[in-house]
Order: sequence, then C-alpha cells, then structure tokens
Amino acid sequence: MSFDLVLFGGTGDLAWRKLMPALFQAFRHGKLPAHGRILAVARDARSDDDYRALIQARFGEVESAKRPSNEEFERFAALLHYRRMDLSQPADYVGLKQWLGERGTQTVVMYLATSPHLFPLVCAQLGAAGLNGPHVRVVLEKPLGHDLRSAREINRVVAAAFGEHQALRIDHYLGKPSVQNLSALRFGNALFEPLWRRESIANIQITLAEAIGVGTRGDFYDRTGALRDMVQNHALQLLTMIAMEPPPTHDADAIRDEKLKVLKSLKAFTPESVARDVVRGQYRAGTVDGKAAIGYLDEAKVPAGSTTETFVALRTEVQNWRWAGVPFFLRTGKRLAARHAQIVVNFRPVPHPIFPGSARANKLVIKLQPEDGLELHLLAAKGSGHGDWLAPVFLDLDFEKAFAAERVGAYERLLLDAIAGRLNLFVRSDEQEQAWRWVEPVLQAWADDASPPRPYAAGTWGPPAASAMIARDGCVWDEEQ
Ligand code: BG6
Repeated sequence: MSFDLVLFGGTGDLAWRKLMPALFQAFRHGKLPAHGRILAVARDARSDDDYRALIQARFGEVESAKRPSNEEFERFAALLHYRRMDLSQPADYVGLKQWLGERGTQTVVMYLATSPHLFPLVCAQLGAAGLNGPHVRVVLEKPLGHDLRSAREINRVVAAAFGEHQALRIDHYLGKPSVQNLSALRFGNALFEPLWRRESIANIQITLAEAIGVGTRGDFYDRTGALRDMVQNHALQLLTMIAMEPPPTHDADAIRDEKLKVLKSLKAFTPESVARDVVRGQYRAGTVDGKAAIGYLDEAKVPAGSTTETFVALRTEVQNWRWAGVPFFLRTGKRLAARHAQIVVNFRPVPHPIFPGSARANKLVIKLQPEDGLELHLLAAKGSGHGDWLAPVFLDLDFEKAFAAERVGAYERLLLDAIAGRLNLFVRSDEQEQAWRWVEPVLQAWADDASPPRPYAAGTWGPPAASAMIARDGCVWDEEQ
C-alpha cells in the first residue's frame, strides 16, 4: 500500500519530539508500508535536505537505543520531504494537492500537529481544495477545544469536510501497550469477567503522576490546567477501558459505543459535589529526584498569581448495575514524587477471615509507566507457622520480556493505525463531547470559587486533601499503603 503522511506543524515540538522518532521506529521495525512519503509542512522556506538535517540533529536528543545510525538515517531520510505553506492561503493547498496528486497515492494522512486553533482553518481549506476524498484521513491532536462549546465548533467544521470515519482524534494513552493489554486481559480471558463488578471490586484508582513541571509550556499550560490537559482525555479514556461492557465485536464503533455508554453513566457533578469530591492543587518549590525544583508561579511564562491547577484528584462513580456504588478515584499532577502511571483495581477482602493477617485484599495493578506490566497481588502462606500466616506476593507479568520484539510505542502504534485506517484507538466526536460535558460543572464551580488551588511541595504526592478525600470512603492511595 502506498501512503503519504502530511505533517502540518512539521517543525514543531510534537513533530520532532514524538512523531519523527515514532515514524523512524516504525521504519526500523519494517512496519511502515513501503512506497511511503512523509511530507513536513511549516511556514518557513527550506529545502528537503535542510529539513532532513534539522531532523537528524534532533535525533541526537532521542534516547540512544532509539537513535538511528548514519546509514539508517540516510535510508529513512529518503522518505522525508518538506513544503513551505501559509495555512491561510488557498493557493498553497492547491499546490499541496498537485504534489500529492503526482503519484496517485492510495492513502493520505493529514496529521495536524499544529496549534489547535488552526484545526478549523486547515480542515476547511483541505475540504475547499478537494483534499478530503475517501482515501484521505485527518488526525487531530489534543487539546480539541477548551470546553464543550469550542469542542463542538471544531467538530462541526471538521465534519463539514470529513466524515466521522476520516477524522481520527488522538489520545496517545490509548496507544500505550498496557492499555492494549487491559482490553486483552478483560476480553481475551474468561478469568476476570465474573469478578469485574461491584460485588468483588471495592474501588478503582487511576494515577497519572508526572515528575516534570510545565517546562517551557507555561503559557499553554496556564490556559489549560490539569483537568483539561490530563483528566478530560487521558484519565477518562482509561476509566472507560476499565468500566466498559464487553463489546459485541472488536470493531471500532462497537468499542466506542461501549466507551460512550460509560461516559454517559458517570455521576454528574454539582457545585456541592465539586467542593467535596474534587481537589485541585498547585505546586510550590520542592525537591524532585534529589534536585531543587521551583514552584509553578515561578515558571517561565506563568502569569503572577495564576490559579491554574497543576494537580487534580477526584472521586466519581459509574452509575449502572455493574458499578453502582464503587468509587473511581482519578488523580494526576505535575511535579509529583515520581513519573508513575497506573490503574489499581482493589478487590474486596475475604468475607470471613480465618488466617491472622488475611485482612489485606487482592489487587490488580496495571502499570503504564515508567515500566509497563501487570501485577496480581495475592496472599500466600509464609510458612513460618507463627505470627501473621500470610504475606503479600504478586504475579508479575512483564510484557517487555514476553513480547520485546513485537512491542511498539504509543505514537508508533497510533501512526501505523492511522495509515492503515484502523480506528479502534481513536476517540469519536461524541465520546469527546461527552467527556467535556462531564468536566464542565467542575470548570464552572472553580470559575465561581475565588479560593486558590491547594499548595503542595514539588516532589510530594499532592495536597494532603487528596488523601483526606479518599479516606472518607475508607481508602488510601496505593503508594501510601
Ligand atoms: C500530554 C499532556 O497530553 O500528555 C502533557 O499535554 C503531559 O502535559 C503528557 O506531559 C504526558 O504523556 P506521557 O505519555 O509522557 O505520560
């Protein structure tokens, strides 16, 4: 199959930090279909060779195992092309069409790695130029909108040019190997399904913790905040993967229909429940990984006195027969104690303990990063015959070890899916809008509340209020156990 991948924002941060390394890995693994071209588009004039040199220099910053040798880069670079475009100029899209048309490629993927405010413009111009035929797909990076209204507006303009099956909304968390494994675990094995419900599960915790601060993205982040940046998309997508009903098939729409049902079943927030069940925080100076870290308000491009949250913890419920009453705790933040993303499914303890020390319950830990894998925590006899009889042990599935040769990173996987037209891991517009609908009362309650976010020292697990919130349900965050 021949393909053209047009990368709008070809010189931007996302392109060189994530997309080019992912495309190179796909190329190195022999997964990129042959007869492909990658066309980077940006505002400045430069030749193909200038662009190749720019990317080669950037590859110097990629971790060494993923860095191409000179010879590998030469071969990869043969796929790379560059085109200058002024995205507001219809004539430039006509030129793009000619460039693409010369070859009559089977698949064209337009990847919008630009600032999101350009999405409506680019989609409308692509449509006007006739660059929206059935063989064209458009990939949209987050953030898709700022709230429900703006998300709908983007979706409306995109839909005027592209059908739903042509518009691929990326949530790169869905491309992470552990998330694939979560769905394999649930729907490829009979073992867990009977337990996957309120009768056996006490609570579920989703933690997406980052050790990094906002870095050079202070202005973007300050307009966004953790709720929009991580909860509305990544955390909610993980929640849907945990809570969804088994889909009738593995088709994209069968899966997305079930995910949408979960989003629609989430307990709606009220001003009172926001005050009780949502904790927002902002980091102050502290120590991360043994190094001093400045506070959020001292970061570059963050306005003085900003009340943007860099941490959110919240409690919600999925209101249906399977999950009624089971708390789902979500937590994310920057400058936390470690880069640590995981989902913990805490099972109920045995109904009648007969062993001393058997009060601990089983749990399933789905680890997303820094390593991915799966741990099933059980209790086993220690064998000493005195004191506590039981001790926690766990079955540890190390996917890296099991499938090392076949594993691909999140962006690599999603780019290959976009080229192949596999839509399972992309977010449908109705899912995305429903996620906005659910977070809006929180945004509104915060806008109406003058009190600032709770401070937490960089390098900790966030404000103590986050632990107090889950303690009301008799729970503790996993790493505090
Ligand atoms: C992005 C957010 O979507 O995800 C960033 O905009 C965040 O703020 C990043 O750092 C985290 O992704 P990952 O894959 O490094 O956990």
